[in-house]
Amino acid sequence: MEYFVIKGGNELSGDIEVSGMKNAAVGVIFACLLIEDKIVLENIPDISDVRTSFNILKAMGAKVRYLTKTTVEIDCTHAEGGCAPFEMVRNMRASYYLAGAELGRFGKTHVGCPGGCDFGIRPIDQHIKGFEALGAEVAVEGGYIEGKANGGRLRGANIYFDRVSVGATMNVLIAAAMADGNTVIENAAREPHVVDLANFLNSCGAKITGAGTDVIKVKGVSTLSGCNYAIIPDMIEAGTYMIAAAATNSRLRITNVIPKHLESISAKLEEMGVKIEEHDDFVVVTAADRLTKTNIRTLPYPGFPTDMNPQMCTLLCLAEGVSYLTESVWDNRFRYIEELRKMGAEIRVDGKTAVVEGNTRFTAAPVRAVDLRAGAAMIIAGLCANGKTTIEDIHHIKRGYDDIVGKLRLVGADIKEINVPEACNYPKAN
Ligand code: EPU
Repeated sequence: MEYFVIKGGNELSGDIEVSGMKNAAVGVIFACLLIEDKIVLENIPDISDVRTSFNILKAMGAKVRYLTKTTVEIDCTHAEGGCAPFEMVRNMRASYYLAGAELGRFGKTHVGCPGGCDFGIRPIDQHIKGFEALGAEVAVEGGYIEGKANGGRLRGANIYFDRVSVGATMNVLIAAAMADGNTVIENAAREPHVVDLANFLNSCGAKITGAGTDVIKVKGVSTLSGCNYAIIPDMIEAGTYMIAAAATNSRLRITNVIPKHLESISAKLEEMGVKIEEHDDFVVVTAADRLTKTNIRTLPYPGFPTDMNPQMCTLLCLAEGVSYLTESVWDNRFRYIEELRKMGAEIRVDGKTAVVEGNTRFTAAPVRAVDLRAGAAMIIAGLCANGKTTIEDIHHIKRGYDDIVGKLRLVGADIKEINVPEACNYPKAN
């Protein structure tokens, strides 16, 4: 049993350093399986999804060695395909990149279906469509993704995704990097982590152009070799701390960021009256004198990120007036609203739109992190609330936020983690 305790009401000040991006790191780490050589990855965040990724690769025969706290050497030369432990794979979403990496290197795959946050149904039909276009036969059977490349090797193809998918774009990029011939991916996702994966693969000798646009071209190469590569900063972590500053009436300098990746978040915060100063690799966020309402629709990049939906909803609760927040990426991303209501939020969900009444004064309450970003939203609400908020199910938060307690404490937040052995916490059942 572990939980966070927050005593809200403190103003925050100082610097928060952002870690490497979860969703880039996990893609790059699984892409290492393609490469029979040593790779050194820098700016690796210390989060449980990354640790699980390393444990999966190790169980497959890879060597993984930390050189510093954030630098890791990975050698997949002797790794074997088809043996990723099911229990680990189903703990995270990004383990689906193993399918692309195994098909690319071994011409076949056998990997358990992925887990991850619960936003309703999370299909992988576009991943499968991409693999099939590359000449693989793929089926989901008995909880596993099973696939085999006809003739033992993937071959380049033209792929048009029916909808924009970060995971499918990255998975097909991984699979196509060493396919025979050329691949064109149309209606590709444009997220910075897609670009980061392409840059990493190119550093290993791949020939990928167009990442960051909706048409990506891959010239298949026969082999990839080792490199040193630094993962980009996590724009969602940065955005979360920007909102923490805005919500707590504070001023924070958020460092190790790429301000361009934050544009959609900064634009909305500025609309609400928050002051944002952009510098080369940091932003300074100063809370608004009066926080005003706004309307937001989540969209694929460069639109407003769905992974900022819960944190932004928390801020909208504090603004003057009624705001509308529409979720257009996931079917069921509003499960956190029930928890926010326990803290005094007045939010009505009308289909895909949350109608948020402003001027909320959050009150402390025991709440749950129903998923990763929902957990971040509970922390922000807890930082604003008078009294002691407890947040359970923090394993979700630890999947994606590197030392969130330490970073917030450093800028003045009263937050701590409590670990209670199960036996102490509950009376024994008869
Ligand atoms: N979709 C399909 N078919 C597919 C794939 C996706 O219909 O084959 C749909 C999904 O159901 C969803 C939409 O397309 O409605 C977008 O899904 P996408 O594939 O882009 O999501 P993902 O790759 O599974 C990644 C992040 C999520 C983030 C989304 C959207 C990783 C490991 N996860 O998921 O991150 O919400 O992109 O940006 O990269 C998080 O970090 O908290 C998180 C949930």
